[in-house]
Amino acid sequence: MQLKRLTICSVMAWILTLALLAVSAQGQGRPGNQAPAVQGPWMDKSLSPDRRAELLVGQMTLEEKISLLHGVGRKAFFQFPGSQPPPGSLGGAGFIPGIPRLGIPDLQMADAAVGVTRGARFSRYSTVLPSGTSEASSWDLELAHDYGALIGRELRDQGFSMSLGGGINLAREPRNGRIFEYKGEDPILAGKLVGQEMKALQEQGVIGDIKHYAMNDQESGRNFVNAKIDRRAMRESDLLAFEIAVKESGAGAVMCSYNLVNGDYACENSYLLNDALKKDFGFQGFVLSDWGGTHSTTKAALAGLDMEMPGDTYFAEALEKAVKSGEVPMSRLDDMVHRLLRTEFAVGLFDLPPDRKVVDIFAGFDVAQRVAEQGTVLLKNAQGQLPLSASRLKSIAVIGSHADIAVLSGGGSAQVDPPGGNAVPPPPPPPGAPRMAFFNRVVWDPSSPLKAIRAKAANAKVEYNAGLDYGAAADLAKASDIAIVFVNQPTSEGRDAPSLSLPDNQDQLVDAVAAANPHTIVVLETGGPVTMPWIDNVSAVLEAWYPGIRGADAIANILFGDVDPSAKLPLTFARTEADLPHPSLTKQPPPAGEADMATPTPGAPFRMNTTRFEVDYDEGLKVGYKWYDAEDKQPLFAFGYGLSYTSYAYSDLKVRQGQAVTVTFNVKNTGARPGAEIAQVYVSLPASAGEPPKRLVGWDKVHLAPGEAKTVNLTLDPHYLSVFNADKGGWELVAGDYKFWVGGSSRNLPLSQILKIGD
Ligand code: BGC
Repeated sequence: MQLKRLTICSVMAWILTLALLAVSAQGQGRPGNQAPAVQGPWMDKSLSPDRRAELLVGQMTLEEKISLLHGVGRKAFFQFPGSQPPPGSLGGAGFIPGIPRLGIPDLQMADAAVGVTRGARFSRYSTVLPSGTSEASSWDLELAHDYGALIGRELRDQGFSMSLGGGINLAREPRNGRIFEYKGEDPILAGKLVGQEMKALQEQGVIGDIKHYAMNDQESGRNFVNAKIDRRAMRESDLLAFEIAVKESGAGAVMCSYNLVNGDYACENSYLLNDALKKDFGFQGFVLSDWGGTHSTTKAALAGLDMEMPGDTYFAEALEKAVKSGEVPMSRLDDMVHRLLRTEFAVGLFDLPPDRKVVDIFAGFDVAQRVAEQGTVLLKNAQGQLPLSASRLKSIAVIGSHADIAVLSGGGSAQVDPPGGNAVPPPPPPPGAPRMAFFNRVVWDPSSPLKAIRAKAANAKVEYNAGLDYGAAADLAKASDIAIVFVNQPTSEGRDAPSLSLPDNQDQLVDAVAAANPHTIVVLETGGPVTMPWIDNVSAVLEAWYPGIRGADAIANILFGDVDPSAKLPLTFARTEADLPHPSLTKQPPPAGEADMATPTPGAPFRMNTTRFEVDYDEGLKVGYKWYDAEDKQPLFAFGYGLSYTSYAYSDLKVRQGQAVTVTFNVKNTGARPGAEIAQVYVSLPASAGEPPKRLVGWDKVHLAPGEAKTVNLTLDPHYLSVFNADKGGWELVAGDYKFWVGGSSRNLPLSQILKIGD
């Protein structure tokens, strides 16, 4: 208790210091976004964003237009120690100065996938939210809205006008190091979640960005890999996620990715940018390149790229020259500028620019904890091991993963500075050692599972062992009523997980503890799926992902039953890597003359390899569960799976065709505890459609008291029942028998009904 109070006090003191520093930074008149009050017809709020942009573009010189289409400085300043932000920048990842003469505000961009990043250096505080995968495990659109709204508010309160969050690449390659930023493997689930998140963010008056468009499904060699995939497969999988998110959110920006797609860089790929995104999805905003992802001037501009970030290699003087020579028509240049300005008008940057103030820390804690509670998945619970009974337990062993002080976070540009800095700082590098790449840093958030567990089990002896000496860990486990082993998988932008196995022999640690105590509970802190060779020997498993600043409280609430676990997996866990579409990661070949370049590992220095290579996504649209269904493989844990402390029964399915297809069924809580069931609807298309066995088309999260039953009514979007006809370049419904399935996971669907659609 004493300890807990101390920690709360020190965190609060730290936060207060930051808040005061933030206020004083404002007082010192640091730059903001406030555009000078300028009168002009484009300031008439009664006009549409497009009309206002049109009027404004008409006032601009060629130089002014070009100045809005690229960042300043060839190199992103934040990547270099001791470097300073360009004048006027608030220190975010990207900055484009405005045009005071016309009242055009600065564009201040910050990475914000799981919270606003890189603030601590400027005395700013941001909430460390649980990872995108945690949010996705909630399947909860309202929660996704809260997640986006919080990020939007904190961006605004820090003076930023644009987010670089909104990651939506599908977990096609489960070893992808950025899975923690994304929303799982299903395009409809991911699309709807990111759609809500970006909608909410933009409601706060900040531009939302969806990334990384497209097929950036692995980090290994991400700047040099050509992703090969057929058009239909691409449109029905990865691109469908973007399509749904763009349409549902009206997001102002899309970031094109580093890789090539079918031979062209994504940022100069006319099919992706002009045909699919701008024409078919109706995207009205602007496309910006990933940092350093622009490779040409004319080709990129004509293919649909609107902005080069973060520098000025291709879209400054070179673009001016191309426009003057007529290679890039003035009409295209005007379109590029129009797209940016109409977005700024639509979001409100001209009328209500961000106003810097102190972040509401407690609102952040609340959202962070709710997301972690709704996003932690109970994967195994033999003999009702969980929830734990605080009154019956006399001793608890807590083992591994720095669980005495911290929870893990994901790395790279999405990593949010935790209050007080890295809770587990790495040892100082030996003198003369090369600088560690920022992708290889491992950052821990100060949220102590040990303390949270102690607070729940006040009468039990709760002891910690670091898990480095397996014998000592096993001894503690043996001497305790139960053992809770925390294991982790650090992942990051810039490097993929070398395999699906837990690193650092943690499987052996679990084996040792499980052999010593039959009541062993494993808590996973991973970016994505991992294999579990010990699964039969442990009694319970919780997947907590990277659970954020309130992760420890959320984990303890679930372990002790104060919160019923309701989350379901947004991606498949394979039994073994041999079952994956690509059993080994497609790696970048070593540079000519070198034998090998090891996969970047935590703690290692960064090396550049520019060798081009190809990844053939020949599994096509069979991403995740669609692959396991089509190949008839049994996953370790299926998409949509997750346990609760209560149980549910499904009945009375009725599928009807009206204006649209509607699905009605009942869900009943058959257990003794209240809970929330994520009820899922899948469909098998007619055989002639040539699709995988089934796809998710709808779901609902049903909150039920013990014994309570509710009727779920879902109207299905016809788009979700359609297939993409690559020859015609459009979506169509195939006539025939559609089989609708309903249940609690992709592999547990007790209800089904066939409905004939079409002639
Ligand atoms: C990442 C982007 C990020 C950008 C700016 C790039 O390395 O791929 O996701 O927004 O850096 O930090």
